[in-house]
Amino acid sequence: MDEHKNIRKPLLSEQVRLLAEEKGFTMSCDDLTGNMLRTLVSAKPGSRILELGTGAGYSTTWILDGMDGSSSLISVESEADFANIAIEIIKDNRVQFHVGDGGAYIEEHSSEKFDIIFADTWPGKFYMVEEVLEMVAGNGLYIIDDLNPQTNWPEGHGDKVIELLEFLDQREDFHKVKLDWSTGIMMMTKK
Ligand SMILES: C[S@@+](CC[C@H](N)C(=O)[O-])C[C@H]1O[C@@H](n2cnc3c(N)ncnc32)[C@H](O)[C@@H]1O
Repeated sequence: MDEHKNIRKPLLSEQVRLLAEEKGFTMSCDDLTGNMLRTLVSAKPGSRILELGTGAGYSTTWILDGMDGSSSLISVESEADFANIAIEIIKDNRVQFHVGDGGAYIEEHSSEKFDIIFADTWPGKFYMVEEVLEMVAGNGLYIIDDLNPQTNWPEGHGDKVIELLEFLDQREDFHKVKLDWSTGIMMMTKK
């Protein structure tokens, strides 16, 4: 099976990719993960979705491509230079970009619930994980990627990932699946 074959990319993804490349942003998700996000999101119409770590908006374009008209997305990014790429290209009233620290966002919105959370930055993935898992609605999804070793990982990051996976494995309030695929994915649904 060729998992890359016949993946139709969202219209805006190429524009985001090119501008991100121009500005030296290299942390976007790959197309397999983007395609997975789109597929999952499209199974949950009317969803409230949270993306922690917009980057330049590459994953955002895939999420939006799967969303129906009644779903909404909040995407949080601390670096204005990166967020502005997404803001400049993605004009869609279903998404609200929030430029600021993800940890502060989590703190300020900890009582809110989201049907899908894609945690693609430090807060919500490597710290404040409990808080973010609490923000997942019943039957909602928590998704993380980049769990397989990468050559650009700083020293000690591998241990953090192992610790994170061990912590998540203990959560009895979620069904979980780990995928040794794309960059290494973990997906969990709240019971
Ligand atoms: C892996 S990248 C996100 C990539 C994006 N989701 C995609 O796949 O296209 C992680 C992003 O988190 C941002 N970031 C780092 N620390 C953050 C924080 N404390 N709060 C919010 N964003 C943060 C980085 O600037 C970076 O753009």
